[in-house]
Amino acid sequence: MTCAFSKWWRPPVFGLAAAFFCSGSAPAQIGSLAEKLQLCSACHGEDGNSKIEKIPSLAGQPAFFILNQLFLMREGVRKVEAMAPIVKDLKDEDLTGLSEHFAKLPAKRSDEPVDAGLAKKGAEIAEHRLCRSCHLPSLAGQEQMPRLARQRIDYLTDTLKSYRDSPRPGADTAMSAAIAGATDADIVALAHYAASL
Ligand code: HEC
Ligand code: HEC
Repeated sequence: MTCAFSKWWRPPVFGLAAAFFCSGSAPAQIGSLAEKLQLCSACHGEDGNSKIEKIPSLAGQPAFFILNQLFLMREGVRKVEAMAPIVKDLKDEDLTGLSEHFAKLPAKRSDEPVDAGLAKKGAEIAEHRLCRSCHLPSLAGQEQMPRLARQRIDYLTDTLKSYRDSPRPGADTAMSAAIAGATDADIVALAHYAASL
C-alpha cells in the first residue's frame, strides 16, 4: 500500500500520526471518538497542549471555536494540509465530540520562554488595538473567538502575520482589520503577552 500521507507531510515527530496512517488503517475505518482523539493527540498533544513547533494547542479553546474551525476544514474552506485526510471523514457528531473534549481540558503554557519586556509591550498594544473586546480581558476567548492565553508563541506569531498579510480563507474579516498595519515586532510582543497569561 502506498502512503499518500507521508508523501506530502512529515510531522516534526515523524512516526506518530504518519505511522498511524501508513500502518494500513485508512482514516475511513477509524470509528470511535477515542481512536480519533488519538490521531489529534499525535500533533496537538496528549492533553491538548501542543509540544510541537507551530502546531496550536486546543486545550481550553471555546468548543464553538473548535467546531467552527473543524467544519471550515472539512468543507475545504480553511485549508490545513496536515489535517485534510482526517477531517474529510468526520461526521457532525465527531466534530461536536472532539470540540467538547478539547474545550474541557486545562490550557497550559508551552515550554517556550516568555520575555517579560515583550509581554509588557504586548499588553499595551492589545489595549490599544482592543483585542480584549472580542477575545475577553483574560484572552480566554468566547464563542467563535479563540483562546489566545497560553497559546504557543510560534503559532500565534505566524497566524497573526497571516491574518495581516493574506487572511486565511473563511476567516472572520474582523480579525484582519484588528491586526492591520501592525509591525512584525508588534506581533511578536502580542504573542509573548498572550502566552504569558
Ligand atoms: C498531522 C498533524 C495534525 C493532526 C493529526 C491534527 N492536526 Fe489539527 N492542526 C495541525 C496544524 C499544523 C494546525 C495549524 C494549521 C495552521 O497553521 O493554520 C492545526 C490546526 C487545528 C485547529 C485550529 C486551531 C486554531 O487555533 O486555529 C483545530 C481546531 C484542530 N487542528 C483540530 C484537530 C483535531 C480535532 C484533530 C484530530 C481529529 C487534529 N486537529 C489532528 C496539525 C494536525
Ligand atoms: C472584532 C473582534 C476581534 C478583535 C478586535 C480581535 N480579534 Fe482576534 N479573532 C477574532 C475572530 C472572530 C477570530 C477567529 C477568526 C477565524 O475564523 O479564523 C480571531 C482569531 C484570532 C487568532 C487566531 C488564533 C488561533 O488559535 O487560530 C489570533 C492569534 C487573534 N485572533 C489575535 C488577536 C489579537 C492579538 C487582537 C488584537 C490585535 C485581536 N485578535 C483582535 C475576533 C477578533
